[in-house]
Amino acid sequence: MKIKKTYSFAFFSSLYITIFTSVTLISLAYFLFDIIPDFWYILLFLIIVFIFTFIVTQFRIEKFIYQRVKKIYDNVSLLDSADFQKTSITSDIATLSREVEKFAKDKQLQIKNLNKREGYRREFLGNISHELKTPLFTVQGYLLTLSDGAINDAKIRDKYIDRANKGVERLIAIVKDLDMISKLEAADLNINKEPFDIVKLVKGIYDLLEIKAKKRNVTLLLDKHYHYPIMVIGDEERYEQVLTNLIVNSIKYGVIGGTTMVSIESFEKNKMLVKVTDNGEGIKAEDQSRLFERFYRVDRSRSRDQGGSGLGLSIVKHIVEAHGEEIFVKSEHKKGSEFSFTIEKSENF
Ligand SMILES: Nc1ncnc2c1ncn2[C@@H]1O[C@H](COP(=O)(O)OP(=O)(O)O)[C@@H](O)[C@H]1O
Ligand SMILES: [Mg+2]
Repeated sequence: MKIKKTYSFAFFSSLYITIFTSVTLISLAYFLFDIIPDFWYILLFLIIVFIFTFIVTQFRIEKFIYQRVKKIYDNVSLLDSADFQKTSITSDIATLSREVEKFAKDKQLQIKNLNKREGYRREFLGNISHELKTPLFTVQGYLLTLSDGAINDAKIRDKYIDRANKGVERLIAIVKDLDMISKLEAADLNINKEPFDIVKLVKGIYDLLEIKAKKRNVTLLLDKHYHYPIMVIGDEERYEQVLTNLIVNSIKYGVIGGTTMVSIESFEKNKMLVKVTDNGEGIKAEDQSRLFERFYRVDRSRSRDQGGSGLGLSIVKHIVEAHGEEIFVKSEHKKGSEFSFTIEKSENF
């Protein structure tokens, strides 16, 4: 016979008690008083004892276990004890322990995540101080040399002041990027979605970056003539940052004399895809997945020479994702890279 687990404890307890009491009673009656009770009386007695003990045991167990378990829930605060209903707690210990095990596993996972995050935090802090140290020491070096007498030589003085100033500018750039990152991570940054013309934005950025591109002899191109505006929706200032970052990267990590090309095409039914393509050094597959991490750089010394903080792409990703959009990278080592992101199309366009 299969009895529902929840009742089996009470069932067997009452069964044993019933058997014991009836055997005792019949024996006592027989040996002491020489009476053999009538079969039907015995049966009635058995049934009454059984029902009574069954109900009492079951009730007591439920109450007992419920109270104990509730206390555990309250103390350990595994769960809000309000979440947990009296009916779900029974003498079915197997289910109970399964539940507790599940809670324990969840907690373990939570702790693991926290530890991981703590690791990230520590690494981030280490990275920040490392990044700030280099330009700070450079600036300090120039200032010390100046105060040691270099200030008296007009030519050296100007050169060193200029270099110290560059170092300070680099520090400011890093701190600005950090500020941006922390705002984005705290979701503190308001995204003001408004329609704007993405073609105009790209052209404006090209104008601003012309000198930088010329220094590396990079040609800035659009894939075709865009005679008409293409209206998209987003925070224009933030997207300016995104495009500037991607275009500057394509100049920095492109070959000297190479090209950067921006194209804007339809994507799905209500989006545009903006691509920034270069024919530069490209990125190996194993580095591609890590590009968007904070401070990740494929070639540290090169990035630093070019004035990068390694935060550019993580800011880009944050901004794109804050708009609920996606960013993609395609790249072949030594051939070039293509960074693209989606953006919402303006309705009345
Ligand atoms: N267009 C590109 N071609 C090749 N490598 C790139 C390109 N864009 C980014 N990278 C690699 O990704 C790294 C991270 O980029 P980013 O976060 O913008 O940092 P930064 O430009 O400050 O170095 C760069 O250091 C570079 O190694
Ligand atoms: Mg960059």
